[in-house]
Amino acid sequence: MLVHAAVYEGKAKRVRIFDDGLAEIEFKDDVTAGNGLKHAVFVGKGVLCCRMSELLLAYLQHSGTPTHFLRRSSLSTMTVRAVQIIPLEVVVRFEVAGSLEKRTGLPYRTPCVPPVYELYFKRDDLGDPLLNEHHVRLLNLATTDELRTIRELALSSATKLHALLQRAQLALIDLKFEIGRTDSSLLLADEISPDTCRLRDVVTGQVLDKDVFRRDLAELLPTYQEVLRRLEQVPELQSLDRSMSRSGKES
Ligand code: TMP
Repeated sequence: MLVHAAVYEGKAKRVRIFDDGLAEIEFKDDVTAGNGLKHAVFVGKGVLCCRMSELLLAYLQHSGTPTHFLRRSSLSTMTVRAVQIIPLEVVVRFEVAGSLEKRTGLPYRTPCVPPVYELYFKRDDLGDPLLNEHHVRLLNLATTDELRTIRELALSSATKLHALLQRAQLALIDLKFEIGRTDSSLLLADEISPDTCRLRDVVTGQVLDKDVFRRDLAELLPTYQEVLRRLEQVPELQSLDRSMSRSGKES
């Protein structure tokens, strides 16, 4: 019988670690912004983020990126490999927005060529500060080799997602990854959803991510439903989905 070794409760997810090297991530309906200062619950958000994460993590896994994803185990939970999360937010930016706009004074949506790569320390009490690689070494959060792998994982995954999302008429402005450590390797972990990236309609520039909540621009649930609708129309994701449901039925 599987025994819970630990349960971690985050702002938008609950993680149960089992004693067999697996973990289950439950996507909650909670949404927060501004380091938890703004909070709301939208019934159904967890299911939407779980489904979008499933599609995007499975896509990356299928394209050769090592991720923690194994399968979606219910509408709002995924089964993943248990990893030790490195306390870094790894951000890749294709266009200027958000904190980069504030830090540099560059106009919104200035192209970032090449993409900008950033690391933030996951420490709510410090306000998640920007770190450089020397700071990461000083804090002993990752080795020099791991830092190289993290950078390669983040930039290659972000580039693949940027191209994929373009086929869903979504411009990927920036996104945040988390990286997990197993005994032998580093894996892309956590979720990939409109909670953790900025998406704009490629034609109109309409905001299609958590910025609608951060900035009170539109209703969150219909926005996320629209992103999922577009993803589900991308042929590569449709065939991946078919093969996942076939192997789910067989197992
Ligand atoms: P930023 O412009 O606020 O630094 O955010 C960059 C990207 O990282 C954006 O897509 C939102 C995402 N992000 C998170 O997912 N979680 C966070 O805690 C922060 C600060 C940003």
